[in-house]
Amino acid sequence: MAYNLLKGKKGIIFGALNEQSIAWQTALKAHEEGAQLVLTNTAVAMRLGTIAELGKICNAEIIPADATSSEDIENLLKKSMEIFGGKVDFVLHSIGMSPNVRKGLPYDALNYDYFHKTLDISALSFHKILLSARKLDAIKEWGSVVALSYVAAQRTLDKYNDMGDAKALLESIARSFGYIYGKDKKIRVNTISQSPTMTTAGAGVKGIDSLIDFTERMSPLGNASAEDCANYIVTLFSDLTKKVTMQNLYHDGGFSSMGMSERAMRQYDKSFNDCD
Ligand SMILES: NC(=O)c1ccc[n+]([C@@H]2O[C@H](COP(=O)([O-])OP(=O)(O)OC[C@H]3O[C@@H](n4cnc5c(N)ncnc54)[C@H](O)[C@@H]3O)[C@@H](O)[C@H]2O)c1
Repeated sequence: MAYNLLKGKKGIIFGALNEQSIAWQTALKAHEEGAQLVLTNTAVAMRLGTIAELGKICNAEIIPADATSSEDIENLLKKSMEIFGGKVDFVLHSIGMSPNVRKGLPYDALNYDYFHKTLDISALSFHKILLSARKLDAIKEWGSVVALSYVAAQRTLDKYNDMGDAKALLESIARSFGYIYGKDKKIRVNTISQSPTMTTAGAGVKGIDSLIDFTERMSPLGNASAEDCANYIVTLFSDLTKKVTMQNLYHDGGFSSMGMSERAMRQYDKSFNDCD
């Protein structure tokens, strides 16, 4: 059911690779809620994924950009403003990648070139987008910028590796830039800390199936899906959340406030008995 929450709004969505992507689901919802969109991803991701299909569904132009390149970002912002005939109302940063995770290098044997890449792609790219947007004055007053984070920014999770550091930096950038952009332009900047979700990036985390099972048992409301996340993101792009900024907002069915649940305890007891 649509509520016209984004009627007349224009937005840029980074990170739709395929149907599983959180960004893909967000584009569908934002389109359904009346927004006009520009979609973007790296040229490689555009070839490997199915973003062209999404562009057709949402009637959106697709502009390639590597989010680690300020030049690409500026080009994207300029072209988007041409397409929209003016400034942008919202931006979604839905980008993450760790070469260390991909190559299976553990945290105590990280490759530092890869570590830099992880931080550049997964966190500094957010700063670059905000900085370029500010430089070009590309976002309207009371606009909204959202990036996707994970609870590994606050808690240590086995195998999440240097992505935990990247997410901590990402959340800090939202606060630091949220202050500057808020006082100057009334633009809000937030991160959403999403449940583990079976996407291409999610599948890259070793043991994701067990993690999803664990958080499902621990969360009183169960895990949030990519579609649930898209619904939440749309509210943050809407005018109903104008005074929410510099926040890391948990969207995880309650997981982040839990210590132990009955469902998880039962599982633990069962495996304990199985071992007997
Ligand atoms: N899936 C999960 O369990 C989960 C949980 C919490 C947060 N997140 C976060 O959600 C966001 C979206 O991930 P997803 O789960 O939808 O997976 P996904 O694989 O569908 O999306 C990741 C996207 O990042 C893009 N990307 C990688 N390098 C890039 C670059 N240099 N420039 C531009 N784009 C680049 C990829 O092309 C891809 O589209 C990420 O920030 C991820 O860390 C995911």
